[in-house]
Amino acid sequence: MKIALIFILYYYIMNANPSDKKFEPFTYKSLEVLREKFEELGLDIPVSQDIEVLQNNIETKKILIPNRLSIQPMEGFDAHDDGSPGELTLRRYTRYADGGAGLIWIEATSIAKDCRSNPHQLMLTEQNLEKFRDFVSVIRARCNETLKSLGFKDKCVLLIQLNHSGRYSKLGLEKFPIRTYHNVDLDTAIGVSKKNGMIISDDELQELENIWVSKAILAKEAGFDGVDIKACHGYIISELLDARNRKNSIYGGPSLENRARFFLNIIKRLKSKLDDFILTSRLGIYNGIPYPNGFGVREVENQNFPAEADLKEPIQLINQLHKLGISLINISVGNPHYTPHLTRPFDTPLKGAKLPEEHPLFSLYRILYLTSLIKHQIPKGMIMIGSGYSYLRQFAGYIAAGLVKNNMVDICGFGRMAIANPNFPRQIFQNGVIDKNQVCIACSQCSGFMRQGIKTGCAIRDPLYKN
Ligand SMILES: Cc1cc2nc3c(=O)[nH]c(=O)nc-3n(C[C@H](O)[C@H](O)[C@H](O)COP(=O)(O)O)c2cc1C
Repeated sequence: MKIALIFILYYYIMNANPSDKKFEPFTYKSLEVLREKFEELGLDIPVSQDIEVLQNNIETKKILIPNRLSIQPMEGFDAHDDGSPGELTLRRYTRYADGGAGLIWIEATSIAKDCRSNPHQLMLTEQNLEKFRDFVSVIRARCNETLKSLGFKDKCVLLIQLNHSGRYSKLGLEKFPIRTYHNVDLDTAIGVSKKNGMIISDDELQELENIWVSKAILAKEAGFDGVDIKACHGYIISELLDARNRKNSIYGGPSLENRARFFLNIIKRLKSKLDDFILTSRLGIYNGIPYPNGFGVREVENQNFPAEADLKEPIQLINQLHKLGISLINISVGNPHYTPHLTRPFDTPLKGAKLPEEHPLFSLYRILYLTSLIKHQIPKGMIMIGSGYSYLRQFAGYIAAGLVKNNMVDICGFGRMAIANPNFPRQIFQNGVIDKNQVCIACSQCSGFMRQGIKTGCAIRDPLYKN
């Protein structure tokens, strides 16, 4: 069965060769036209106009999520200097809480001062714990009220993502990459050279394990329902998963055991410390970076970017996580600092960046299918969240329903759509469709704000961020 599915993976990825599917922007006026485009491109993406399935709750072990729509973590760079949520942070999350998603996954929150992605990134500390407590209680009350008013009987789930920005860390406003191994391509993509920053030592990584564990315990004290040990998008844990070229280290080299050691050590230590608290991870299962680096890629040299997928290692890792008691996992792909279209298909690139060489619907299809292949390989009873759906605009609810109905994912997590239109879940539940006048148009302006290091929001739909 497993071998058969791996073959299916190769069939889909290799037959849907990106070079046959050149970039085109989103022009689909009706679901029918979009379906025809899927067919023309050979993309087998399920569609269902019966959105009821998205209203079902889902339960496993001690986790109960009220419905099948969630808000994905998205940094806003609007925290106070001490790392506590600012006014605009509260505004963003109350908008999400009023929208009707059953699960709100709070954005990347730094575990320490010297590994923040921005001086206004959230950061959880002993000193600002009370402020986080207040924040959680406001968001929880608003979210529960919304869910009740929409007819859901279960309570809202609030998770926080804890992160070390690794190669993408800043000291104040200056880039200060903390790398796990040298990679000139990754450095060039963010305009730094070997001279900037450092390679983190094994001793420093060991110390970081302690910090991460203590911050996860603090997240429970702050009132969250659970914590995400972030392992995607090229930040420190996901970079370690790539680190075959890290030499003489217990945290790198050819074996997955070494490359996953840092991640699994944190999970193991937290498992014994945190009862009644969800332990989860947003895991990058494929980043397209060619072997001998990369994760979830085929182990052959001299491949072009993006390299062919091979999910052997991600599946092994997820099975280990399951054995350690993890029963909720949030899947993502790519490295947004390197090739953002793999993570979030778009119509307009960041200022100064090139358009991708592949069709955005193909990029989306890659995320959906890699996620569904993982779904069929991992233990039953593990809840899986997918992403990338915002590109589908007003039709996103129909594809989400199709995917859930076909057991290709359990929960559909939305990123950019939530920034543009935080009421998208309510619109799906009440009207059966997302309001086309409020959708995300994948213009990359929210990501552009992030890259400039300023407060992030939707420049198209939200008057506050228009100028
Ligand atoms: C402005 C912005 C901030 C983001 N911040 C995070 C983050 O903090 N943590 C994370 O795991 N992903 C982050 N992402 C990625 C999103 O969670 C999501 O995976 C991506 O946007 C694709 O989903 P979408 O098509 O629904 O937008 C961010 C994306 C954007 C656009």
